[in-house]
Amino acid sequence: MARVAIVTGATGGIGIKFVERICLMDDIDEIWAVGRNKEKLNKLLEKSSKVFPVDADLAVDGVNVIADMIDRDKPDIRILINNAGIGYMGSYDDMGRNKVAACCTVNCTAPSELISIVLPFMKEGAKILNISSASSFQPNPYLTVYSASKVYLKNLSRALSVELKPRGITVTCVCPGWVDTGMLPKTKGGETIKYNGLISPDLVVDKALRDCSRGKDMSVPGYFAKYFRFYSKITPASLVMKLWVNAIKKYI
Ligand SMILES: NC(=O)c1ccc[n+]([C@@H]2O[C@H](COP(=O)([O-])OP(=O)(O)OC[C@H]3O[C@@H](n4cnc5c(N)ncnc54)[C@H](OP(=O)(O)O)[C@@H]3O)[C@@H](O)[C@H]2O)c1
Repeated sequence: MARVAIVTGATGGIGIKFVERICLMDDIDEIWAVGRNKEKLNKLLEKSSKVFPVDADLAVDGVNVIADMIDRDKPDIRILINNAGIGYMGSYDDMGRNKVAACCTVNCTAPSELISIVLPFMKEGAKILNISSASSFQPNPYLTVYSASKVYLKNLSRALSVELKPRGITVTCVCPGWVDTGMLPKTKGGETIKYNGLISPDLVVDKALRDCSRGKDMSVPGYFAKYFRFYSKITPASLVMKLWVNAIKKYI
């Protein structure tokens, strides 16, 4: 029975690094690398013969594509990384119904369904990582749906880590601040945008894998996200949001 890792968002900045790290793991035979961009998916094949690209749109029927593969192969699923995500910076008004729906589906519904689909195929020692965000530490106007979706994923993750402990399955929620990937706009009005505390995807992935192997339910990489978490705990939400609105004007 193949020992499988499933990584969604495998074509993006953080996902590619997860795939690279898992390629080096002796106890994984296959990496199901999920994404939509066919060119980037095919490029992942160069990393290792363990990589199996899965072309699946998680905003449409992507979860069914993965469920069918699991039904067919009945694998031993060792790792699930719910990493695919959609961000949107701007006003809720401008976002519109379709983008709101896609953000909720990809960031919340798909990871929840995937966990429920993989659990019957996971044994003791299996690991689930959910890539949330420092945006989950407080409400973020102009990143409204994204930050709300990441709160959902964080609470799902932490509660599940308790439920699944008796089965020996770890669930780790990863909450980075700004990460240097294609998700972030690089310029505004011809000027380079400087993101406070920007970190590399390598740092996120190395810490996430370290924390999950230690059985931690939270992984907060970088000093900026750690500070943001602490400051959000001790500061009234109204003040955090006021300061956030001033800060985000640099980016939108
Ligand atoms: N970058 C940051 O500052 C930051 C900070 C905190 C948390 N995060 C989280 O980290 C995770 C990875 O993001 P990233 O920074 O690596 O961004 P990214 O480079 O934009 O990658 C996003 C990934 O999500 C996939 N994706 C998006 N919509 C999809 C859909 N409908 N169906 C299937 N796959 C879809 C993309 O696949 P295709 O391109 O193939 O469609 C891509 O692989 C996300 O959950 C994000 O919210 C990022």
